[in-house]
Amino acid sequence: MSDIGKKKVFIVAGARPNFVKVAPIMRAMAESPSLRPILVHTGQHYDHNMSQSFFDELNIPRPDVFLEVGSGSHAAQTAAVMVAFEKAVLELKPDLVLVVGDVNSTLACSLVSAKLMIPVAHVEAGLRSFDRSMPEEINRVLTDSISSFLFVTEPSGRDNLLREGVAEDNIFFVGNVMIDTLAENARRVRNGESARPLGDFSGDYAALTLHRPSNVDDPATFSRIISALEAAAAEAPVFFPAHPRTVNNIRRFGLDDHFAAWDGASTPAGKIFIMEPLGYLEFLSLTMNAKIVLTDSGGIQEETTWLGVPCATIRENTERPVTVDIGTNILVGSDAGKISAAAAAALRGDWKQGRIPELWDGHAAPRIVSKLESLLY
Ligand code: UD1
Repeated sequence: MSDIGKKKVFIVAGARPNFVKVAPIMRAMAESPSLRPILVHTGQHYDHNMSQSFFDELNIPRPDVFLEVGSGSHAAQTAAVMVAFEKAVLELKPDLVLVVGDVNSTLACSLVSAKLMIPVAHVEAGLRSFDRSMPEEINRVLTDSISSFLFVTEPSGRDNLLREGVAEDNIFFVGNVMIDTLAENARRVRNGESARPLGDFSGDYAALTLHRPSNVDDPATFSRIISALEAAAAEAPVFFPAHPRTVNNIRRFGLDDHFAAWDGASTPAGKIFIMEPLGYLEFLSLTMNAKIVLTDSGGIQEETTWLGVPCATIRENTERPVTVDIGTNILVGSDAGKISAAAAAALRGDWKQGRIPELWDGHAAPRIVSKLESLLY
């Protein structure tokens, strides 16, 4: 399809969860008669298994613009994205900048665009943990305050934005693009299209992810959480694909002895098996077949709710309350008793029956694209 006369839309992705969200948006916008997607990868995440493997597995086109900013302190990383992104915006002059989620790249690119008077569309707007010690909460509040079009995933998002004074006409309840990707790929995993992350292991297990700075950056807190997870591991082995930030801290704090390497053969009882970060399909396979998922991630709370898999969130709050209100998620904080009790209950099959939230139907991205088509013309 010719691009002549189409409006240019920058689609920004920087970190692992962003890639999962932009995949269906890129696909839907590629079909648009009036919008031309231009993919910008900031380079916030750069390891093969944090970035390229997602592009490969989710068939995301090669980025049109690659900023290569890499890691740094919040200020250094945010500033580096801003400087590089401003150059790209000035050169390519997009008509709209679309950002997803709540990572540093999301805020950095919104801020640049708003100051250059280019409208910003924020996908996954309005989520609030009301916990300003989370860097993501700062990113959410600031991004929403300078966005022109706010696409929300759940009713709380709309309520929060209205309370903050956002005009109702700029808020659009469209569902959840992360679930678009999940719905499509759950089929692929069920059809056996992914490697089995646990080889021939077929027993009961818990899956774990942990990377929030509030959980893993302080040695005392991290050690307390590990003791809690060891209590859960007494119920069933825990498989833990670990984020690089977490792996660095395990080394720094000398906590290696609490983890075992999974060799596919050892007796699994009572252990936390640490693994490399998995690709999208392998991780989905791990989650789908787990008796319970223990996590401090945002997106995984949503994915488990859609899959109907029990989820215990190792945080005191959530910005995704629908997953607790009607989904399979509960909040356990870092309380050892609650974490092991959750694991025991899930293994007994004693868990609440969740429901899939409204509009988490696999079609959020086409809704976003058709709304943008009408907004931009
Ligand atoms: C970021 C997001 C977080 C999101 C998470 C998903 C912010 C503030 N946080 O956290 O909301 O849940 O991504 O993964 O944007 N590193 C590597 N290789 C990589 C990327 C990171 O080794 O490809 C290591 C580096 O040591 C880096 C650290 O991980 O300093 C943290 O990376 P960063 O992007 O700053 O934050 P995340 O913890 O990944």
